[in-house]
Amino acid sequence: MTVGIELRRYTTRHAARLRPLLLGVYAEVYAEAAQSDPFCAVDRFAEGLDNWSARPGWSCVIGYDDGQPVGYAYGAPLLPGSRWWGGLLTDVPPDTISETGTRTYALSELMVRTPWRKTGTARQLHDALLAPQPEQRATLLVVQDHPRVRALYGSWGWKTLGDLRPLIPNAPLFHAMLLDLSSR
Ligand SMILES: CC(C)(COP(=O)(O)OP(=O)(O)OC[C@H]1O[C@@H](n2cnc3c(N)ncnc32)[C@H](O)[C@@H]1OP(=O)(O)O)[C@@H](O)C(=O)NCCC(=O)NCCS
Repeated sequence: MTVGIELRRYTTRHAARLRPLLLGVYAEVYAEAAQSDPFCAVDRFAEGLDNWSARPGWSCVIGYDDGQPVGYAYGAPLLPGSRWWGGLLTDVPPDTISETGTRTYALSELMVRTPWRKTGTARQLHDALLAPQPEQRATLLVVQDHPRVRALYGSWGWKTLGDLRPLIPNAPLFHAMLLDLSSR
């Protein structure tokens, strides 16, 4: 299926209006996972969404097909001393995880509703979110139980940094990944 997706970009000031849409898409995409994994519960996601969407520099891209939302991506820059790296379990040189507020953009969420999978929509959302970001690099976390998603990100240029378990109750083990944005 080839899809002509309309991509719209949003910031913190749109967060309250977007909240029901973002939660609705999440609830659909993670419906099965939420049944067995409390980490995927909509309430927990809603807390995370409210936290992320209030952060300075939060940005979000939503894709629409004929007016209906098909998926989205969002994130924000990491501030100095960010908790993002607090759960890193792999030893890395300190400079690798030193944040300035302008060095690293954290891609917190990327999800696509099932009918729009394997259509290039996820890549479009990913690229549209990151393209205007001025940071040198981006980071994301991918659950270690999802090797195919990690392979997908690898095919988009992401490199694995190490193991990370976020400092959040019930959090699974993730691979922390980095993408160089400086050569664009
Ligand atoms: C990740 C996502 C945006 C990628 O969309 P896409 O580019 O259209 O690619 P696909 O949906 O084909 O996913 C790529 C592969 O990852 C697998 N995958 C996707 N989501 C998965 C999940 N939640 N758990 C396990 N495997 C998953 C797919 O089965 C596929 O495997 P395949 O290549 O062997 O068929 C989309 O699959 C999605 O929204 N997944 C659910 C949410 C999610 O897991 N987001 C990533 C958080 S790190």
